[in-house]
Amino acid sequence: MSTNVETRTNPAKQADFLPLLGTDYVELYVGNAKQAAHYYMSAFGFQSLAYAGPETGIKDKVSYAVNQHKLTLLLTTPLRANNPVADHIYKHGDGVKNLALRVDDATKAWEETTKRGARSFLSPTILKDNDGELVMSGIHTYGETVHLFIERNNYSGAFMPGFRKWENEYFKPADTGLLYVDHCVGNVGWNQMNKWVEFYEQVMGFRNILSFDDSDISTEYSALMSKVMSNGNGYVKFPINEPAEGKKKSQVEEYLEFYDGEGCQHVAMATNDIVHTVTELRNRGVEFLRVPTTYYDDLLDRVGQIDEDLGPLKELGILVDRDDEGYLLQLFTKPVEDRPTLFFEIIQRKGAKSFGKGNFKALFEAIEREQEQRGNL
Ligand code: FE2
Repeated sequence: MSTNVETRTNPAKQADFLPLLGTDYVELYVGNAKQAAHYYMSAFGFQSLAYAGPETGIKDKVSYAVNQHKLTLLLTTPLRANNPVADHIYKHGDGVKNLALRVDDATKAWEETTKRGARSFLSPTILKDNDGELVMSGIHTYGETVHLFIERNNYSGAFMPGFRKWENEYFKPADTGLLYVDHCVGNVGWNQMNKWVEFYEQVMGFRNILSFDDSDISTEYSALMSKVMSNGNGYVKFPINEPAEGKKKSQVEEYLEFYDGEGCQHVAMATNDIVHTVTELRNRGVEFLRVPTTYYDDLLDRVGQIDEDLGPLKELGILVDRDDEGYLLQLFTKPVEDRPTLFFEIIQRKGAKSFGKGNFKALFEAIEREQEQRGNL
């Protein structure tokens, strides 16, 4: 059975008022950035890139940038209580604060979005050092999450002014083949999905490319609804989930309860060789959701011929789904912190542009088994 996605084509042919070049970086506020950086390097294969803290003139927080191909994570921790970073962690635990988007003109991006109703987080600000200048601006989105606009055409430094290049002389883990951000999913509250769909349409010029209702995404017990928003060139995709009524508590409700509000549920990172990437991640201790091995019994009947051998997919628990344009392979980590909040998806696309709807049922049953063990189903 191939996925049968509802594609809404909305031929908005007017010029894109917010041209995005892709994801620049994802910033997590964490309780201990030094240890988080070590985790993302050792477990996920990120490389040390840049550092900011008291030694670079930043007094109240420390940040480590780590990268792998086109993926950059920024890990920030507060040095004292009573500041926005500390408050964010106290309320939400470790989580995504900034989904930073690369643009050619951060001033225009801010003007175009704020004049359409976005709430400003940061008016256009020029940051300078000996490597040039970088312009940054930002707007609020769901919860306390922010979209920063990053213009770095005139900057040649390792990351941005305020940072120094960081070379970890003790530890150089091999990368794991993670390439770029495929999509970032937001969890929003009851009846809030359409409000945020409208925000992305009207304020940021995105289109709703796929929709899933609770009949698509419901198991025996719990349900959610989702709409996928994409920018004009398709480089930036933000699915938005809201809980739906089921017999028991939706995974989105569990997230909202433990994150204490709306926020980023998962970041999907692309690879060209998921068997290699997931083998590496597993060997380095990353924990993944598991579906029952019966998932593989009739997999090829469901998705047709695929290039990969079934054995390694079954061994690693990798999921496969097909749409009209091709197929995809995907796998989800367990939450990467103690609260059942943020997790990561590893995805390899072989033509498919969808999100694995055919896997939702098996996947959500796996999530419910985890929820049940936590006493939150
Ligand atoms: Fe996803």
